[in-house]
Amino acid sequence: MIGLLFVVLAAAGVGNCHSYGRNVTYDGRSLLIDGQHLLLFSGSIHYPRSTPEMWPSLISKAKQGGIDVIQTYVFWNLHEPQQGQYDFSGRRDIVRFIREVEAHGLYVCLRIVPFIESEWTYGGLPFWLHDVPGIVFRSDNGPFKFHMRKWVTKVVDMMKSEKLYASQGGPIILSQIENEYERLESAFNGEGSRYVHWAAGLAVGLQTGVPWIMCSQQDAPDPVINTCNGFECGVKFQGPNTPNKPSMWTENWTSFVQRYGQEPFIRSAEEIAFHVALFIAKNGTYVNYYMYHGGTNFGRTAAARVITSYYDQAPLDEYGLIRQPLWGHLKELHAAIRLCTVPLLSGFSETSSLGDLQTAYVFKGKSGECAAFLVNNDNSSNVRVHFQSNSFELPPMSISILADCKNLAFNTAKVSAQYNTRSRTVKHIFDSMERWEEYNEPIPTFSNTSLRADVLLDQMSTTKDTSDYLWYTVCFQHDSDAQAELSVLSNAHVLHAFVNGQYKGYAYGGNHNFVLENTVELKKGTNNITLLSVMIGLPDSGAYLESKTAGIRSVRIQDKYLNNYRWGYQIGLLGEKSKIFSSEHEVQWSPFRGRPHRLTWYKTWFDAPSGNDPLALNLGSMGKGEVWVNGESIGRYWVSIHTPKHRPSQTWYHVPRSFLKPRGNLLVLLEEEYGDPLGITLDRVWIS
Ligand SMILES: *[C@@H]1O[C@H](CO)[C@@H](O)[C@H](O)[C@H]1NC(C)=O
Ligand SMILES: *[C@@H]1O[C@H](CO)[C@@H](O)[C@H](O)[C@H]1NC(C)=O
Ligand SMILES: *[C@@H]1O[C@H](CO)[C@@H](O)[C@H](O)[C@H]1NC(C)=O
Ligand SMILES: *[C@@H]1O[C@H](CO)[C@@H](O)[C@H](O)[C@H]1NC(C)=O
Ligand SMILES: *[C@@H]1O[C@H](CO)[C@@H](O)[C@H](O)[C@H]1NC(C)=O
Repeated sequence: MIGLLFVVLAAAGVGNCHSYGRNVTYDGRSLLIDGQHLLLFSGSIHYPRSTPEMWPSLISKAKQGGIDVIQTYVFWNLHEPQQGQYDFSGRRDIVRFIREVEAHGLYVCLRIVPFIESEWTYGGLPFWLHDVPGIVFRSDNGPFKFHMRKWVTKVVDMMKSEKLYASQGGPIILSQIENEYERLESAFNGEGSRYVHWAAGLAVGLQTGVPWIMCSQQDAPDPVINTCNGFECGVKFQGPNTPNKPSMWTENWTSFVQRYGQEPFIRSAEEIAFHVALFIAKNGTYVNYYMYHGGTNFGRTAAARVITSYYDQAPLDEYGLIRQPLWGHLKELHAAIRLCTVPLLSGFSETSSLGDLQTAYVFKGKSGECAAFLVNNDNSSNVRVHFQSNSFELPPMSISILADCKNLAFNTAKVSAQYNTRSRTVKHIFDSMERWEEYNEPIPTFSNTSLRADVLLDQMSTTKDTSDYLWYTVCFQHDSDAQAELSVLSNAHVLHAFVNGQYKGYAYGGNHNFVLENTVELKKGTNNITLLSVMIGLPDSGAYLESKTAGIRSVRIQDKYLNNYRWGYQIGLLGEKSKIFSSEHEVQWSPFRGRPHRLTWYKTWFDAPSGNDPLALNLGSMGKGEVWVNGESIGRYWVSIHTPKHRPSQTWYHVPRSFLKPRGNLLVLLEEEYGDPLGITLDRVWIS
C-alpha cells in the first residue's frame, strides 16, 4: 500500500505545481524528482501524427493504461520547411501538445535529437539542409553543427520561455539528443566520436535543468544517460555505462514499421509484457512503448515506402481506439509492477536460480518489503518451482510478479484483459458517376519543359521534396518506323513510361535499382520519351544521408543509351501546382465518364456522417496515389501492391473528424493507375 501511495503522489505532482520548479536528477537506480526515486512507464505519441482534437483523448487513454510519461520527437522539417520560416500551427503546435499532457498530470520526454529517423521523410531533417555548402549530416562538420545548434537551441528556448521544463514547474523531465547513432558511428571514423561529444556538450550546455539521454549509444558522455532501444532490452541491453546512471528503455517497439507490400508486424500482449517485466526485474526503472499510439503519416510525411498508417498495432490504434487485449494486459502489468514500487526502488536486489531456465529476481525494501519476478525461459512447458517457502507453477515463457514475494499479482502469459474487435460500417458510397468530375494530368513532352540538362538528374536535389513526382522527357531521331526495346533503370520507387504519347507501362522497386522494359513503336523522325519517376517519401536512415540520390539512372533504346541526351524536366504535376485539391484553383474539370484513365484527378463532394466515431475511406477499388479532404492531404495510398498474403498493406485511410464540416466536404484523389472511384466508401470505425 505504501508503494501505491508513493506512485500516486509522484504522479499527482505534475499538474498542480506550476509555481515552483522540481529538481529532476538521477542515480544508479532511477530518475529522481525532488529526491524521490521513480519507476516510470512512458508511451510515445507523436503530435503531428494525430490532430489537436484527438490529443486529449489519446493522452487520457494512455493515463488510464498506466502511462506516466508521454514521449515525442520534435519534427524539424515540419516546423522549418524553408530555412528561417517557422510553423507551429495546428498539428505542429508542440507547446499546446505538451500543455495537454501537463493538464492530464503526466510528464513529457522531449526527443529534440534532431535527426529523428522515425519512418518520417528525411528522418525529420529539412531538405534545405541538403543544399548547405559543405554539409555532412550528423558528423563533426561545421555547417551541420551550426544548423543543429541553432535548431536545438531554438527548441530549448521555446520550451524555457513557456516554462515547460520540470525545473521551471513544467512537465518535461527528460530530453534526448541524437538517436541510435552508435550503429553508424564508425562510418564517420573519428569524426563520429567527436560529434557525439560535441552533441552531448551542446545539450548539457543548454541548461534545461533536466537530464539528457542518448538512446542506443553505449558510450554516451557524462552526464548524458545511455538508454536502450529494441524489442528485448531485458535480454540485450549492456546496462548504464557508469554506476550512477539508471537503466532506461526508450523504445520498446510494440510493433514495427510497415512498408507497402508488407504485412503488419504483430507482437502479442504476452510477449511485450514478458520483456517489460524482464527489464524491470533486471533493474530497469523506465520503459517507453514505441509507439503507444502511432497514428497517421498525413500528407507526404512518411519516409521511403512507409505506409500512411503508423504503428496501428499499438495499444491505441491508428484512430485512437483501445486495442485489446494489449492495452488492458499492459495496464494490469503496470499496476502489478507499481505494487512493487517500494522494494523495487528503495531496496536491494538479488538473483537466484530456480532451475535450468528459471530465475528469481528479488527486491527487498528497508522495512522488510519484498517483491519477486519469477522468470520461466522455457518456451515449451509449465514448470513448478519452489520459491521461499511456496510452490509456483510457471507457464512457458512467462514472468510471475509477486508483489509481496508470496502471492501472484500478475503473470505475463496469462491474459485476463478482455478482447475486442474492430469493425467498419459503410456510411457513404461514392458510386454515383454524376457526382464525380475528372481531370487528366497532361503528359509533358520535351518542348513543354524549361528545366534542361545533358544528364539524368537526381530526383531529390531537383524536386527538393516539393513533390513525389519528377518528369524526365527527351526527343530523339530515328531513321525508320520500327519496333524497339526500351529499357529504363531507376532507383526511385515507381516509374511510368510514355512513348510518343502512348502509355508503355510501369515498374516499381524497393531499396534497389529496378528496370522497366517494354517494346515500343518508333516513328521515322522525331520520337518522344516521357518518364514519370515517383518517390514515396525520402530515405530516413543510414550514414551520409545528404549524399543519397534517387531517380532514373539510365535509359536505353535498343543498344543506344540516351543518358547524355538533352533531357527536359518538369517538377511535380500540374494539378499539384494549381492546388487542384483545394476549392480555389483554375483547373478545368470534366464530368467523369466512368472510364478510369491513368494519371487522373477525381473530385466529389460529400456530407459528414453523423456521430463522433472515427472515419476512414475504403480505397480498395483504387490503385496508387494521394487523397485530400477539404484541401488537407490525408496521405498517400497504394492498394495495388500486395503483401505475400495477396492483399494490400493498407486499404482504409483515416479521415480525422476535425477535417470535416457537417456538409459539403471536398474529396480529391490523384490516381496513378486505373483505380475506380465509384468503388470508394466512407466507413465508420468502431470497436466492440
Ligand atoms: C537536487 O537533488 C539532488 C539529489 O537528488 C541534490 O543533490 C541537489 O542538491 C538538489 N538540488 C536542489 C536545487 O535542490
Ligand atoms: C540489480 O542491481 C543490484 C544492486 O545494484 C545488483 O546487485 C544486481 O546484480 C542487479 N541485477 C542485475 C540483473 O543486473
Ligand atoms: C525454444 O527454446 C529453444 C531452446 O532454448 C530454442 O532453440 C527454440 O528456438 C525456442 N523456440 C521458440 C519458438 O522460441
Ligand atoms: C505542351 O506543349 C504543347 C505544344 O507543344 C501544348 O499543346 C500542350 O498544351 C503543352 N502541355 C502542357 C502541359 O503545357
Ligand atoms: C513529339 O512531341 C512533339 C511536341 O513536343 C510533337 O509535335 C510530335 O508530334 C511528337 N512526336 C511523336 C512521334 O509523337
